[in-house]
Amino acid sequence: MGAIKNARHPFYDHCDEALDRIRHEGRYRNFTPLARHAERFPVYGEERPDMPDGRDVVVWSTNDYLGMGVVPEVQEAAIAAVRDHGAGAGGTRNIAGTSPLHNELEAEMASLHGKEAGLLFVSGYVSNQASLQTILTSMPGWICFSDRLNHASMIAGIKGARASQTVIFEHNDLEDLERKLAAAPADAPKLIAFESVYSMDGDMSDIGAICALARKYGALTYLDEVHAVGLYGAEGGGVSQRDGVADQVDIIEGTLAKGFGVHGGYITAAAGIIDFLRSTASGFIFTTALPPCVVGAALQSVRMVRAENWRREALFERVNTFRQRLRAAGVPFTMTPSHIVPIPVGDAECCKRISRRLLNEFGQYATPINYPTVPEGTERLRLTPGPFHTDEMMDDMVRALATLLRAEGLMPEQRTGQAA
Ligand SMILES: Cc1ncc(COP(=O)(O)O)c(C=O)c1O
Repeated sequence: MGAIKNARHPFYDHCDEALDRIRHEGRYRNFTPLARHAERFPVYGEERPDMPDGRDVVVWSTNDYLGMGVVPEVQEAAIAAVRDHGAGAGGTRNIAGTSPLHNELEAEMASLHGKEAGLLFVSGYVSNQASLQTILTSMPGWICFSDRLNHASMIAGIKGARASQTVIFEHNDLEDLERKLAAAPADAPKLIAFESVYSMDGDMSDIGAICALARKYGALTYLDEVHAVGLYGAEGGGVSQRDGVADQVDIIEGTLAKGFGVHGGYITAAAGIIDFLRSTASGFIFTTALPPCVVGAALQSVRMVRAENWRREALFERVNTFRQRLRAAGVPFTMTPSHIVPIPVGDAECCKRISRRLLNEFGQYATPINYPTVPEGTERLRLTPGPFHTDEMMDDMVRALATLLRAEGLMPEQRTGQAA
């Protein structure tokens, strides 16, 4: 009764059809295998069947913004931790997965953000997903006010808290946020979830103003500083440190994978909040702890980033120089208040084509950013120049971009009379 013999499960066809659709819309994702050369960063090696000897590629799209992942002291810290403690953590934090390095790194992150305590997660994604879901499930009646452009990891956490209510406010729109806060029941527990640097557009939120609204309407604040930690603030504590408002934010979340160049995520907050999440967040409790080598490398990296300002200064000098060169060559880019340089393209196929030709013909790599990461029609290349991109690399990249954008009719002089 009810048995079906030899039937192909409909999910197989679903996968094939969905992939056809994704390919047809130009959204199919191909990985570009690039081997980072630690000693020559940001030069990577590309090896392909048609190129047995490989070749050098200059990468413009790494999120290791400061190159901390290739700093010898950071590499050595990872190696030392492997030698001392082995390759993996061997368990969850509760089951023998906590080393002294884990505790030290949590204390370091708390001190960086001026908070009482910190908690490590296996990635920035998991830190957002697990923390927000747990907080928004903790009491009845939560209302989460979420910026429209929040990262997928925050959205996953917010959506996962099914009993809570979500109110999306327009991106960085304080009037809309206030209107929506004012319309909510005064006694409902509220949380505002937002980012400091929005990585696809490179714009920033006004953290102090959002915290002022939070105080006025009695909301908790949850700030994602993933694209800002290491880069902004006197010690790399993010935009909240730079703006002197970190103490106004209840929970600051970050990653060890971008500005710190290693791997892992974390939150910092008051000791009671951290202890609560440590004791109840499923995404923290039921997964193997970060390996000690990752934690050791991250600890070394964070300490160096806090103590040494030159990489931050070099990063912003390089970003400014790159923008000047783009401007001088007439290459369009979106001006942002951050280190992120988007080159607008506006079409998925075209964006992928430019990226492919940059790689194949010019040995330059810039990631095409397409839907669903950004809205359709706003496809772009996303460039993140770093401290180690030389003038010569910049000249080569600017020339390559000018050639390819001209071939696509995307240079400003070719668009005269058209809507931008
Ligand atoms: C805003 C934001 N938050 C969180 C994450 C996730 O961080 P991780 O890469 O450490 O998982 C990302 C990743 O790109 C991000 O852009």
